[in-house]
Amino acid sequence: MNNRSVLVTGAHGYLGSVLMGELDSRGYRTVGVDNGLMSDVRVPLRHGSYVDADIRKCDDWAPILDEVDAVVHLAAIVGDPACGLDEDLAWQTNYLATVSLTEACRRHGVRDFFFASTCSNYGLSFGEAAGLHTALHPQSVYAESKIYSEHHLLSNAGEGFRPRILRLSTLYGLSPRMRFDLSINVMTAHAVNRGEITVNGGFQWRPFLHVRDAAEAFIRAIEARPASPLSVWNCGSAAQNHRIIDIAEIIAAEVQGAQILRREADADSRDYLVDFAGIGEDLGFTPSRGVVEEVRLLAQAVGSGRFGSCAGTEYSNNETLRALMRTVHTDSAFPNNPTAAIRLAHQNG
Ligand SMILES: NC(=O)c1ccc[n+]([C@@H]2O[C@H](COP(=O)([O-])OP(=O)(O)OC[C@H]3O[C@@H](n4cnc5c(N)ncnc54)[C@H](O)[C@@H]3O)[C@@H](O)[C@H]2O)c1
Repeated sequence: MNNRSVLVTGAHGYLGSVLMGELDSRGYRTVGVDNGLMSDVRVPLRHGSYVDADIRKCDDWAPILDEVDAVVHLAAIVGDPACGLDEDLAWQTNYLATVSLTEACRRHGVRDFFFASTCSNYGLSFGEAAGLHTALHPQSVYAESKIYSEHHLLSNAGEGFRPRILRLSTLYGLSPRMRFDLSINVMTAHAVNRGEITVNGGFQWRPFLHVRDAAEAFIRAIEARPASPLSVWNCGSAAQNHRIIDIAEIIAAEVQGAQILRREADADSRDYLVDFAGIGEDLGFTPSRGVVEEVRLLAQAVGSGRFGSCAGTEYSNNETLRALMRTVHTDSAFPNNPTAAIRLAHQNG
């Protein structure tokens, strides 16, 4: 068994469930923290356990930090649409809870802190590959909340606290907790189930990364000897900077009979490609999975019927949150304050 112990927030999530399994299989002792807002997937662990807890109330469970060597902070309201549904909840979860968790780690002597940020921070890169010093043009509360969190973490860096930040590309691929609200996953699902891939605009650039490669990048970061107390990496690879229309064409080539439907309206305002030189040099990280092979695997899994129509609420953060807000709105005392209503629903289990 590895003698390191890692606490992962957002452990039931799309990335968290993969990372928990990988850390466990490599002998790490793990503690997975999640409040089950989006998922309750618990991969079986030989050397770990799960704690049902809310990162917004980390003082309640902070003593657990005494037992761990490192924190990987993944828990968040993830995605532009979900954050747009309740901006108050997004700021509380993505930013304020990161501030509280930073304080808790400092108090409980956890020096090594790994944060899942996003390449969405770049927003627009005007045809150039965005590097770490490129200006950020966030297009959503989601990206803004991640940028504020990065600032907070970096301003706390020092001997007692070493934040390392991975700005992840858009993830894709199979995970124990599936999401069909991510571009490659949803386009593949539509190609298989409807024979159609709808592309809005399509010329926007976006970097992509397989969810298992993202987990591998975190493990490389955990195992690296840091040269400086603070580090930020774009996480992905130049080879997986794609235009959305390129992705649609890859999927159409893999899924027999699938047609691409182009729409000019509703194009996502984000359009960025990214420079990934640093992560290869510093962590020796290069993704091992590519879009073509993984779309094939995804298409097979969707075709097997394992995920039904792939349109279930549980596969979309936006729809999960919307459903929760609908439920709590009707019978709660907070008709105009979804955050308060959601909090109440959580307290009531
Ligand atoms: N999926 C992507 O394409 C992508 C891209 C860039 C960055 N990221 C980042 O990676 C991380 C993981 O994303 P994901 O795709 O696994 O998302 P996810 O929604 O599947 O996982 C997030 C997890 O956080 C949990 N959570 C939410 N609020 C919580 C709270 N208050 N307390 C405890 N747990 C809470 C949810 O229940 C969920 O299990 C996020 O920080 C996200 O911003 C993801």
